[in-house]
Amino acid sequence: MEVDLGARSYPILIGCGLISSPDCYAPYVRGRQVLVVSNDTVAPLYLDAVERALASLDIHKVILPDGERYKDLATLNRIFDALLAERLGRDVTVIALGGGVVGDMAGFAAACYQRGVDFIQVPTTLLAQVDSSVGGKTGVNHALGKNMIGAFHQPRAVVADTDTLSTLPDRELAAGLAEVVKYGLIRDPDFVDWLEASRERLLARDADALAEAVERSCRNKAEVVAADEREAGQRALLNLGHTFGHAIEAGLGYGEWLHGEAVAAGMVMAAELSARLGWLAADDVGRIRRLLAGFGLPVDPPPDLTAERWLALMAVDKKVQGGRLRLVLLRAIGGAVVTADFDPAALRALLEQTAAASGRATA
Ligand SMILES: NC(=O)c1ccc[n+]([C@@H]2O[C@H](COP(=O)([O-])OP(=O)(O)OC[C@H]3O[C@@H](n4cnc5c(N)ncnc54)[C@H](O)[C@@H]3O)[C@@H](O)[C@H]2O)c1
Ligand SMILES: [Zn+2]
Repeated sequence: MEVDLGARSYPILIGCGLISSPDCYAPYVRGRQVLVVSNDTVAPLYLDAVERALASLDIHKVILPDGERYKDLATLNRIFDALLAERLGRDVTVIALGGGVVGDMAGFAAACYQRGVDFIQVPTTLLAQVDSSVGGKTGVNHALGKNMIGAFHQPRAVVADTDTLSTLPDRELAAGLAEVVKYGLIRDPDFVDWLEASRERLLARDADALAEAVERSCRNKAEVVAADEREAGQRALLNLGHTFGHAIEAGLGYGEWLHGEAVAAGMVMAAELSARLGWLAADDVGRIRRLLAGFGLPVDPPPDLTAERWLALMAVDKKVQGGRLRLVLLRAIGGAVVTADFDPAALRALLEQTAAASGRATA
């Protein structure tokens, strides 16, 4: 599959055993030098295989500490330290081996180093294979905001080896499935049917089912990105559930809920708001809840946030434009819209109901 961006087009390779295949890298490496960026969880599992595949090249590596809390400028600098200390030139290829954190950081380092060098994404989490490795958004967090320092920089190739998903913790697999469900809800109703029918195979990590889920997710993302690379319009649909989800992540403190978990509960909130506005049938909200819950994902927001706190947290999200909150809402399963044109009273009522329901739960 190809992400069609003219001169910056690139392939997404999906399959078993790809990370140890030289053919998955050689066509996309221009010079002789490569810098593999990974972390201290993923490197012990997969770095050897990648090094074997790159054996004919001049291999350098930098291993970062694992965790979203290290996705910052200080840790990013360790990549620049390696690039400079080892005198890597403009034709170096940076190879990101890991989940979304490593991919976003290595990609951003590649965007900045000598004003831009090539990079290859080798995503090893389901979330990274279906979402973060495709589309060219790179960056790090700042104390005052997530992903606020970054750049668009497309990779030369994405190598998604579904075998790597075998070592992923269950909770991380489920978090990735939330983003998979997202593509169906936004624009692919047949995919939603398929996900409902494939629940057990996916949870059992059946290789064919996982490959198909990655493939269909990437095809959806590639189409959206090809139509709107810099998020002037349509690409914002990919943020379904994310304004609510980011409020959950920030409100509870990063790391309490995984991103995909917060997005799952956030998508249910978006569906419920859509139903309140009369845009989506109540049955469809139930169907979305069952699908996500079936993957072991949370479908209710955490009980700790008041309506005021929700609104304050949602206002910081970068999807606010001209003072009006824009949300991705559903007109149907498989039919999302980006809009600021909804009744704010309906949003407030939803948030108040959420807070009241949790008040009862904790009383
Ligand atoms: N650039 C984008 O378009 C985009 C899109 C979505 C998310 N993101 C970013 O992605 C990040 C989240 O990515 P993530 O969910 O992959 O988190 P992550 O990179 O933190 O990986 C999750 C955990 O799994 C471990 N891990 C990775 N691969 C493994 C494997 N094969 N076996 C065992 N353990 C493994 C990691 O070391 C980590 O502990 C966030 O920082 C988010 O902002 C970016
Ligand atoms: Zn997401």
